[in-house]
Amino acid sequence: MSEIVKIFDTTLRDGEQSPGASMNTEEKIQIAKQLERLGVDIIEAGFAAASPGDFEAIKKISQVVQKSTVCSLARAVEKDIKAAGEAVADAKHRRIHTFIATSPIHMEYKLRMKPDEVIRRAVEAVKYAKEFVEDVEFSCEDAGRSEMGFLKEIIDEVIKAGAKTINIPDTVGYRFPHEMGEMIKELKDFIGDRAVISVHCHNDLGLAVANSLYSVLNGARQVECTINGLGERAGNAALEEIVMAIKTRKDIFKDIDTNINTKEIYPTSRLVAAITGIEPQPNKAVVGKNAFAHESGIHQDGVLKHTETYEIMRAEDIGLDRNAIVLGKHSGRHAFKKKVEELGFELSADELNKAFERFKLLADKKKEITDDDIRVLITNELSSAPEVYKLKKLQISDCSEGVPSAAVTIEHRGEEVTDAGIGDGTIDAIFKTIDRISGYKGTLNDYQVTAVSKGKDALAKVVVKVVFEKDRPAVIGHGLSIDTMIASARAYVSALNSYISMKDNFEAQRG
Ligand code: KIV
Ligand code: ZN
Repeated sequence: MSEIVKIFDTTLRDGEQSPGASMNTEEKIQIAKQLERLGVDIIEAGFAAASPGDFEAIKKISQVVQKSTVCSLARAVEKDIKAAGEAVADAKHRRIHTFIATSPIHMEYKLRMKPDEVIRRAVEAVKYAKEFVEDVEFSCEDAGRSEMGFLKEIIDEVIKAGAKTINIPDTVGYRFPHEMGEMIKELKDFIGDRAVISVHCHNDLGLAVANSLYSVLNGARQVECTINGLGERAGNAALEEIVMAIKTRKDIFKDIDTNINTKEIYPTSRLVAAITGIEPQPNKAVVGKNAFAHESGIHQDGVLKHTETYEIMRAEDIGLDRNAIVLGKHSGRHAFKKKVEELGFELSADELNKAFERFKLLADKKKEITDDDIRVLITNELSSAPEVYKLKKLQISDCSEGVPSAAVTIEHRGEEVTDAGIGDGTIDAIFKTIDRISGYKGTLNDYQVTAVSKGKDALAKVVVKVVFEKDRPAVIGHGLSIDTMIASARAYVSALNSYISMKDNFEAQRG
């Protein structure tokens, strides 16, 4: 019997801390369902105290996820732990993950606390978390730069207080693999079977995966990671790389396994890319677009003769179907439904009808509709707020000379309103005109455009982050079209609809 290394996925929490990776609740639910299909043991669904949106997303994920444990992060403060406990209350398997910094630099400059106080806070936090859940994880933030003596002291106390998992984060990605391995070995000798040792490695020096693997070899039995290596700054250890390394190098990881269904790795990576708009770099290990592409003639020849000449993993093992059926104009509802199911979506009859309508409109303009096109089409449909405002028409000026301008028609409460405006650039003109029509004034915090698939007729996906009112959180909007300007206008209108829906929710909660 192999020993299992638990996979703790933090795409929805640390991953969401990647610049530009914010997701709305519906998108988080889609990702959580896919993570469950992938077989992750624990889903860190967010940081409940961070915002009402985070809280709501964790609560909803707790209601839909059945097999994986759902977890919320909480600082070692009462209000965070309470929010975390309430957010995961409905989960079949639930966990609170509480943390406090343990490195001298963090304790002195960030926390401004003496080590004794940090231990006291940690113990109180674990005990309080135990009032909400049985399964409590404690993290020594910046453990990578903490002193071993102090780590042992605090770990001993939190285990006595009831922590079942002790996480050792290399918060700033400072450690080298051999150092990480030595640290975990010493902690394993100290902790024994009293708690599971977990690691959480950041990638500032590009060592997050190597550090995680060395930790496993030295006794860690939980690894915290994200899909596509998303995460704060240079990101977290990439789930797909850790899992495939353990699977591929059975000679090194002899009796060690994970519960991951590796065939769901590629679909999960694509879903996360579709939702966040953040594409893995083409040469990214395991899931990059080139990871299984052979360019040189010698390599191609070798692979054709015997795949193992240049491939250490099989594309099929990560669920990359190189012969996936591409849909088109003549594909009917039945083929579309089948494809949607194969991609792992569970749609109601109404959602399927709407998605099919969008598919047909796209197929009129685009010859081949790929799996990625369908993924973004559906996630876009599912994640959109009710369409209080709807883009009907867009006309832009010739961009080559003169002042950029846009004429926009928007439907609002059954009425169509048209206006035109100018701007510093075409996108600016479009957004300003939408502001004029709606009466709201948005400040654009982020704008991203990605091509969903290849070719001149590739679908453009635009993601915007907009603040419509000071002191209210930014909202995300998505827009799709084979025309980038239309996709941009749709994204902005979608952000406006999200804002209105958020405002209505707040007001309804306030009563
Ligand atoms: O990087 C880190 O230390 C973290 C902790 C909150 C686990 O994300
Ligand atoms: Zn982190």
